Amino acid sequence: ADVHHYDFFVREANFTRLCNTKTMLVVNDSYPGPEIRVHRGDTVFVNVHNQGSYGFTIHWHGVKQPRNPWSDGPEYITQCPIEPGTNFTYEVILSDEIGTLWWHAHSDWTRGSVHGAFVILPAENETYPFRTPDADQTIILQSWYNEDFLQLIRNSLLTGQAVGPPNAYAINGHLGDTYGCNDTIFRMEVDYQETYLLRIINAAMNEEKFFSIANHTLTVVAQDASYVQRFATDYIMISPGQTMDVLVQANQNIGQYYMVMRNFHDSAAPSNNSITTGIFQYRNSVGGLISNASLVKLPQPDDTNATNTFLARIRNTRVRQNPRFNVPRRINRRVYIAISTNSIPCTNPECVTLTRTRFVAALNNVSFEFPTLDILQAYYNRSNGVFTTDFPQEPPEFYNFTGDLSGLNTNVTMGTRAVTLNYNEAVEIVFQATQLGAGGSHPLHLHGFSFYKVGTGSGNFNNVTDPRSYNLVNPPLINTVHVPARGWVALRFFANNPGVWFMHCHFERHSSWGMDTVFIVRNGAAANESILPPPPGMPVCSAA
Ligand code: C2O
Ligand code: CU
Repeated sequence: ADVHHYDFFVREANFTRLCNTKTMLVVNDSYPGPEIRVHRGDTVFVNVHNQGSYGFTIHWHGVKQPRNPWSDGPEYITQCPIEPGTNFTYEVILSDEIGTLWWHAHSDWTRGSVHGAFVILPAENETYPFRTPDADQTIILQSWYNEDFLQLIRNSLLTGQAVGPPNAYAINGHLGDTYGCNDTIFRMEVDYQETYLLRIINAAMNEEKFFSIANHTLTVVAQDASYVQRFATDYIMISPGQTMDVLVQANQNIGQYYMVMRNFHDSAAPSNNSITTGIFQYRNSVGGLISNASLVKLPQPDDTNATNTFLARIRNTRVRQNPRFNVPRRINRRVYIAISTNSIPCTNPECVTLTRTRFVAALNNVSFEFPTLDILQAYYNRSNGVFTTDFPQEPPEFYNFTGDLSGLNTNVTMGTRAVTLNYNEAVEIVFQATQLGAGGSHPLHLHGFSFYKVGTGSGNFNNVTDPRSYNLVNPPLINTVHVPARGWVALRFFANNPGVWFMHCHFERHSSWGMDTVFIVRNGAAANESILPPPPGMPVCSAA
């Protein structure tokens, strides 16, 4: 395995979109940021130089970082922010991840402009489990706001109101031709009969996405850096945080075809349902777009059925190139987590003058409060007062989560409460979506692990009958899971990575409101089962 070194220079730069120029924080002056491209099992050192005006951190989404939470990145969970004028070198340790992941800032809403692809090619002596594609292309789906990301979330938390939907969406930084401002359109140039591996990343802030290419069949081959059983489809559905590897063959009449995306939106909250376009362009094609008729293959924004049928087709594959199959057949512990968005009385004047209430979000009625010193250092140094370990492992009351909740006690408490797991115990997490607030679906992400999605269903989870329907044969191995609106999903994994690992909704709005918790995995007995020592130069918190 190789060792690579990257330098990320992070500073403000100007970008013009929607007839408007804004300044935003980006890496190496580019939006999206630079691509990391390495082989399976390599180690990557990334020296992050903060040349901007506020602190932030970077996370390597989906990289498990065995025993090395120090370089995982979530701000105030595993590290303090990298302050302006300083730098920090992350050591990103790959193990069995294969395919596509991504990296993004992990503080406030900075990830809106600070993100990029993390491509993991087969090891030098390894092949793809399918015919080697002629070329590959990353496709990053993004949210575009005319306003500054940091200002948006700071104002929203002050006033207690929601950040509205974005002004537009982008594909690899291009807004396409639907917004009426002569914005550029992303063109992927292809050669007739060649096969391409699309590495699709949903980097949008708050939206799950449908994506398709007119007239072309997509063949899904991997998700979240593990291979799946290949299947052909007209469209994909991808949640924020997720990555999907898809083969497409340029086997249609030579021409130009739209690639299109729009939201899948299963919630009463407001949404921007515009279509965003790119072009799949055959080299030497003449004439205009061969297009519109086939846009119909993109599901409607409220098509829950299209989402569920697509997700049900994703199955693990036992090809030798995949991470070793290791699903717990029995469990030591089930953590049953009800997800809610709520509104509670507010006290600060910016909020009181508006509505007297503010939005919060909770897991088991606990709304996460970020500490001002990071949890990992507090845990490692055994210092008190930063967090507690009493996160409730089931909801405070068992009620009908998906029915009429009007009479329900929705008292939410604030806290920095973690779950502690023993080394290598077999864990099941069940996420239960509820009708509280605007309801809707959620993409839940766990750091430090990939987990098996063993079951999902609509309505309330039943702990007697539902486990009988689990798939323990070929469940997908993923790091971010779609929790269906008014339904549940069950995950299993072995807690074999000691450390402090953030878990949160990958809708940025929900995470900022407190839809987060932390899993602390204790060290094992053997010397190679404990957290590595901290690297040199860990940033220090200003509150310290
Ligand atoms: Cu993609 Cu905690 O993040
Ligand atoms: Cu959410």
